[in-house]
Amino acid sequence: TKARSADEYREVLASNTEELERLSRMVSDMLFLAQADHAMTIPTREPIDLASETQAVLDFYEALASEKHLALSLAGTGSMSGNRLMLRRALSNLLSNAIRHTPEGGAIKVVLSSAEHAVQISVSNTGAPIPAELHARLFDRFYRVDASRERMGQGAGLGLAITDSIVRAHGGEIKLFSEGDMTKFTLIFPQLDKALAAS
Ligand SMILES: Nc1ncnc2c1ncn2[C@@H]1O[C@H](COP(=O)(O)OP(=O)(O)OP(=O)(O)O)[C@@H](O)[C@H]1O
Ligand SMILES: [Mg+2]
Repeated sequence: TKARSADEYREVLASNTEELERLSRMVSDMLFLAQADHAMTIPTREPIDLASETQAVLDFYEALASEKHLALSLAGTGSMSGNRLMLRRALSNLLSNAIRHTPEGGAIKVVLSSAEHAVQISVSNTGAPIPAELHARLFDRFYRVDASRERMGQGAGLGLAITDSIVRAHGGEIKLFSEGDMTKFTLIFPQLDKALAAS
């Protein structure tokens, strides 16, 4: 109804684009979960070198992390059989959460370790812990702590539900430890080949 400057239009378009990206991500997340409900299976399995896969995901987040002066680190090695894209998505969800919730100047550590019949990937970050009474609901779809206080344009609360379904599709589980000034999510994947070889 009123003529506006090119700059004003540019700003409105940019914010529309941002909102569209958020909505399209939410739709694709919801589709992913709907599919996971039907078939908790993995499209294709392949051998995965966890150190190089994790490093690739970390590289992607490096710029965001350095904006907040967060130290990202990776330790340990491990390998597993699984779906590479799903694993990346699971890690990526944990890292994006960690980056969002770690206070400026904090640290995010990814540690890989192999136990007898399982391989573990833990992602920990510094910062205030998540109250224990909320831990069980955190993995529910659309659940977000402090949703009312957070601004529009943030996540939909699907990331952990997706990570959980990816881990379960691999026969694994996810554990949460959050106390003191540290929050740690651990993905535990059974080593199918080793478990079979031993039986
Ligand atoms: N590392 C963390 N530290 C503190 N709180 C966390 C951390 N990871 C997750 N949370 C809490 O768990 C809630 C659910 O996380 P989840 O990843 O499922 O959703 P989201 O990040 O809000 O949205 P989305 O992942 O869909 O963008 C978050 O809203 C946040 O309150
Ligand atoms: Mg998230």
